[in-house]
Amino acid sequence: MSAERLSREVAALYDNNPANIIAMLQEMQNRNKNRYLPRPELEALAACLAVPVAKVYRIATFFKAFNLEPKGEHMVSLCVGTACHVRGAAKILTALEGELGIADGGTTSDLKFSIETVNCVGACALGPVAVINEEYFGELEAEMLPEILNRFR
Ligand code: FES
Repeated sequence: MSAERLSREVAALYDNNPANIIAMLQEMQNRNKNRYLPRPELEALAACLAVPVAKVYRIATFFKAFNLEPKGEHMVSLCVGTACHVRGAAKILTALEGELGIADGGTTSDLKFSIETVNCVGACALGPVAVINEEYFGELEAEMLPEILNRFR
C-alpha cells in the first residue's frame, strides 16, 4: 500500500482531525511489519492533514513509543528490573547481545530481532525473564538462549 493511501485510510479512521495525530501515528506504526514510521508515511500524513511535516516529525520524535527506524520482526524484551537484576539479568543481556551480534536497543541487519531492556514484566518470581512476541521465557540461563532464539529464526 502506498504511503499516500495508507495515510488517507488512517486519517479517515480518526475523522481527518489533526488533533488525533498521535493515534494516527500509532495506527500507522502498528500496521508496519517492522513497527516503525518510514519518512514517506510521515510526509504523506502531513500532506493529507494539511499540517506542516515538522509538526508530524515533532510528535513522532517526542514519544518514545514511536520508532523512526525499522525494528526486528521479533522484539526480545529482557527484564533488567530489580528482581531480575539480582538473578543475573546482566549476564543474560551480555549473552543475548553476543548471540544476536547487536547491543541493547539494536536491530539485526536482517531485521529479524531487536533487543530492548525493560524494567519489570510482572513475572519477578521467574527472573531473569525475557519476553519475545508476548511469549514469556523465565528462569533464563545464558545456555538456553540459542535454542529459544532458534524458535524465531
Ligand atoms: S523485575 Fe523482572 S519481571 Fe519483575
